[in-house]
Amino acid sequence: MELYAAANAVTVVLFLWFLLTAAVNSDGDFAAASNLRREPPTAGLCAYVIEPSGFPCSEHTTQTKDGYVLGLQRVSSPSVMVQQRGSPVLLIHGLFMAGDAWFMDSPNQSLGFVLANRGFDVWVGNVRGTHWSHGHVSLSEKDKEFWDWSWQELALHDLGEMIRYVYSITKSKVFVVGHSQGTIISLAAFTQPDIVKMVEAAALLCPISYLEHITSRFVLRLVNMHLDEVILAMGIRELNFKSNMGTRIMDMMCDGHVDCDDLLSAITGKNCCFNSSRIDFYLEFEPHPTSSKNMHHLFQMIRKGTFALYDYGIWKNLKYYSQIKPPVFDLSSIPSSLPIWMGYGGKDALADVIDVQHTLKELPSKPDLLYLEKYGHIDFLLSTNAREDVYEGMISFFSSLGKFTSY
Ligand SMILES: *[C@@H]1O[C@H](CO)[C@@H](O)[C@H](O)[C@H]1NC(C)=O
Ligand SMILES: *[C@@H]1O[C@H](CO)[C@@H](O)[C@H](O)[C@H]1NC(C)=O
Repeated sequence: MELYAAANAVTVVLFLWFLLTAAVNSDGDFAAASNLRREPPTAGLCAYVIEPSGFPCSEHTTQTKDGYVLGLQRVSSPSVMVQQRGSPVLLIHGLFMAGDAWFMDSPNQSLGFVLANRGFDVWVGNVRGTHWSHGHVSLSEKDKEFWDWSWQELALHDLGEMIRYVYSITKSKVFVVGHSQGTIISLAAFTQPDIVKMVEAAALLCPISYLEHITSRFVLRLVNMHLDEVILAMGIRELNFKSNMGTRIMDMMCDGHVDCDDLLSAITGKNCCFNSSRIDFYLEFEPHPTSSKNMHHLFQMIRKGTFALYDYGIWKNLKYYSQIKPPVFDLSSIPSSLPIWMGYGGKDALADVIDVQHTLKELPSKPDLLYLEKYGHIDFLLSTNAREDVYEGMISFFSSLGKFTSY
């Protein structure tokens, strides 16, 4: 019994270690954990991050069919007249992140600011469970049911609803930009005709539909340990780094007992280009919570090599899906008329090049591709050079579609 408890404790520690993706600098050292203890900001993302940089910003909320209230921010540029604002772009963040991820560096470096300065009507998405979303109409975050979802609900409910909301307000089809998990849910959502008809084009950073060939040593170790199943069996439904237990274990680990060298590289791949002196600032926001079920669904993708709905096991699959295996998201059903642009990196240990090629093979269209040999998973968001290396190409792609009229 004691042995079992000890084994569990070790697993939890290792798990939280894994969660540090966003909490480690590019040299692989742990940053001070002090920021993790801070309460999530009480003001909204506009007031907290975007307006202080001089960018006009308004807060919006919208409700999903299953009752979650999501926060969206609409950002424009101080130098572009609101009446001249161009096409709407919806930014959809990755795992353990939220809308703040697009505004972490200077206005000349961060995609959210760059797009606003170029005249786009920038909308910032925040999925359920993150600090900038607003809970649920009837459930509390303390309820287990609140955390009973995985990325398929983020795709079919959250992203679908955010696109619909932006479309209904702007009366215009929406450009969608995703990073990492944001690309998983984008690709899943684009297989749905009622969602994709509202999308003008998509730009996917670190595109993922298959996770079969991830090279992340650390994640693979956790997958082999079945950590996702252990966590669920322990009754943990919410993965929150900023909880009391999370911060206590973090403090313990960051006390020098764990060899943390090269941890970030072991998780995400070697990131060439982000600004390690800004770690304290990143940590004020990241990591955001997610659900254990979501982690389990992602680990299923790694184990099975599929891009499919959540696998409940045979009996429940029969009940929910009327078939033994969960139905797959069929990439070939994404309309070939949907223009897609992708940026991927040679050092990305999560969106592996082989898996990206697998995705490309199944898509009916031929996306425009940007391959950056030296870029890792986080560089696409936080590289100090991301505007020149990545975002200019993305903006040219959007502009080339001829739908963008304001500049
Ligand atoms: C931002 O980038 C533009 C274009 O390269 C440049 O002209 C401007 O000086 C930069 N601004 C800052 C504050 O670095
Ligand atoms: C890195 O961040 C620091 C602190 O915010 C800033 O002063 C510096 O200009 C940044 N460096 C680059 C290359 O962006």
